[in-house]
Amino acid sequence: MTAVLTNPLRVGLRQERVISPQCLVIFGASGDLTHRKLIPALFELFRQRRLPSEFAVLGCARRPWSDDDFRNRMAEAMAAEIAEHRTAWEQFAPCLYYEPVDLQDPPTVVKLGERLDLIDRQRATRGNRTFYLSVSPAFYGSGCRALAAAGLLTDPARSRVVIEKPFGTDYASAQALNKVVQACAQENQIFRIDHYLGKETVQNILVLRFANTIFEPIWNRNYIANVQITAAETVGVEERAGYYETSGALRDMVQNHLTQILALTAMEPPGRFDPESMRNEKAKVLQAARLANPEEPWKCCVRGQYGPGGSAERPIAGYRQEPGVNPQSTTETYVATKLFINNWRWQGVPLLPKRLSEVVLTFREAPVHLFDAAGGAPTPNQLILRIQPDEGADIRFEVKAPGSGMRSRPVDMAFSYDESFGEPSDEGYVRLLADAMLGDPTLYTRSDEVEAAWRLYTPLIELMEESPEQVPVQTYEARTWGPAAADNLLAEDGLAWRRP
Ligand code: BG6
Repeated sequence: MTAVLTNPLRVGLRQERVISPQCLVIFGASGDLTHRKLIPALFELFRQRRLPSEFAVLGCARRPWSDDDFRNRMAEAMAAEIAEHRTAWEQFAPCLYYEPVDLQDPPTVVKLGERLDLIDRQRATRGNRTFYLSVSPAFYGSGCRALAAAGLLTDPARSRVVIEKPFGTDYASAQALNKVVQACAQENQIFRIDHYLGKETVQNILVLRFANTIFEPIWNRNYIANVQITAAETVGVEERAGYYETSGALRDMVQNHLTQILALTAMEPPGRFDPESMRNEKAKVLQAARLANPEEPWKCCVRGQYGPGGSAERPIAGYRQEPGVNPQSTTETYVATKLFINNWRWQGVPLLPKRLSEVVLTFREAPVHLFDAAGGAPTPNQLILRIQPDEGADIRFEVKAPGSGMRSRPVDMAFSYDESFGEPSDEGYVRLLADAMLGDPTLYTRSDEVEAAWRLYTPLIELMEESPEQVPVQTYEARTWGPAAADNLLAEDGLAWRRP
């Protein structure tokens, strides 16, 4: 018998909801994120015919640009993409407008209100506004205050504000920021973005767990020995040293992206797929999570920083040699830590978010080894959820190796997004921008989740600030899997990191 993976029709896969007429206002429009992610995501939505015809983007920043300057800058940054879709760009570019605004300067915010009224008349956007704060995190609170003071957040049905990460720099600052933004807008107007939740493969964790019956019965401490969540990058810090030097890997990736993946992997099934049911479950599991050693956090954390690497022909600079980085910097570019979740499902199962993108669930070993195994012992079963690149999932299990004996050998059964669906996944920002404009916060982080995620790492953050020598930053070669010391984190439980 041949097993056939049905290839769903390539058309008709998308079930789209309809975005109402509106104006998306981007603060920080001269910044990197706008031309690298936001405008490309909006252009993609336009090409997928998901944007209403009554639509406008208003870019705002301090620079005195005109509408045409803004359009030209975006076109320059997206030249390669536009070359492939020139007619679409010519139709899309007239939706782009620009207004010089300094959120710290009230008269310019008043002028912004007037410009928005004008755009409503020109483009029939009907007073629906999504404000996107892609500004320095130091201005999230004051930015919301300025919008509220100008009366731009008054109508909860027509105005929303999207706030980029990082939302706070620790538990106390996240709580304080929540107080400020909740004084300016209702919680259902506030969209705290984590772009990992926009990725198909991250959303697929939910579908895989809750649309199938074969996984859920074994998705618990009785069958799973440990869960490794990793996110590695091949690029260095590039031109972002100014930001990265004040952030480091724990704040840049672990507290947000990896902890959101952890929440989806470990949460209980929600009663319904609606924003509050989903976010209740995520908040609950994060509130039950603890560092493995909250009292002695140095025992459950390894930090590292990439040093020079590559080969003689193609050397790669170390972190301290990157432009804008302090040559004595102790900022971590790698962090591995160990958590437990104190609930019935997960008690005693180590969860290991590590900066290196995949989720690996390693199952407990068979209680009795009946057969000889390649390598001495059978490889534990694993479910590997490949977040990126090469999006998909593998199940690793033992089969009989061909031959006269009864030896077992591990094999993989693989699912690939590309092979099954034949179209690349959208960037996370495409889904999330559409959701914000639809007013759907399911894939956005609620105030209690973001606080729980910061609180979880508080002992580590305090340690790194107060006694950094207890979690020394160990050098590892650029483009390798991090410092050897990270192996010890797992070795004490008789486990090893999976090398993707
Ligand atoms: C961002 C981090 O939030 O996510 C970056 O600030 C990181 O440091 C990026 O490179 C990774 O995103 P992606 O989608 O490329 O995996």
